[in-house]
Amino acid sequence: MKVLEAAPERYDRGIRLLSRGSIDAVYERIAQRVASPGSKVLDIGCGTGGVSLACARSGAEVTGIDISPLAIEVSKARGVKDTRVMSITRVSRKMGIYDTILMMGNNFGLFSNKKRARWMLRRFDSMTPADSRIIAQSLDPHQTDDQDHIAYHATNISMGRMAGQVRIRVRYKTYITPWFDYLMVSSQEMAEILHGTGWQILEILGSGGANYLAVIGKVKV
Ligand SMILES: C[S@@+](CC[C@H](N)C(=O)[O-])C[C@H]1O[C@@H](n2cnc3c(N)ncnc32)[C@H](O)[C@@H]1O
Repeated sequence: MKVLEAAPERYDRGIRLLSRGSIDAVYERIAQRVASPGSKVLDIGCGTGGVSLACARSGAEVTGIDISPLAIEVSKARGVKDTRVMSITRVSRKMGIYDTILMMGNNFGLFSNKKRARWMLRRFDSMTPADSRIIAQSLDPHQTDDQDHIAYHATNISMGRMAGQVRIRVRYKTYITPWFDYLMVSSQEMAEILHGTGWQILEILGSGGANYLAVIGKVKV
């Protein structure tokens, strides 16, 4: 991955190769589903802007945010019009009202933990209309036979954390990020996190593997 991450255009090409070209089709399918002329889309952790651009091509007004200034520079250069260097934790109603919030590329993980997820989901509720959608991608950590992973899950649970909550930091040469938590959940765990926040899972899209997309909408009152 180091080789891919050294340059953004290499990253895009690499991800396309690793996904055997399917990533562009996924972006297009998401765009067809949520983007229409005049609709407003917030792409959280937009990376190099692939899904933002697909939504913009379908006529949506897209805001792409990412904590990485380089990712935002690339998104901007590729044509995403409204881009901001900012963390998910700074997302609020002050940004405006959005019809769709995207958390693609396993970005449900950016919630870090259950408490922060519930806090953020309530915030998302305040900045979206009744028929809005969150499209969030996650990875079911329980779909593994790896004994090291299973032991890690057990340690997490004994510490009151979710099984798929990983604490990581990224090192490249002398560059080291601070430690941060990244959350992976099964669709059932996701439903438990959503419970009581005003949101519910409407549909799970996936091929039956560990990786899946959840279409999340508001609970009707
Ligand atoms: C796996 S990439 C996904 C990129 C894009 N959504 C996609 O599907 O191709 C995760 C992105 O989230 C960004 N990110 C990491 N932590 C973040 C945070 N706290 N707030 C916003 N973005 C963050 C990273 O910089 C990276 O661009």
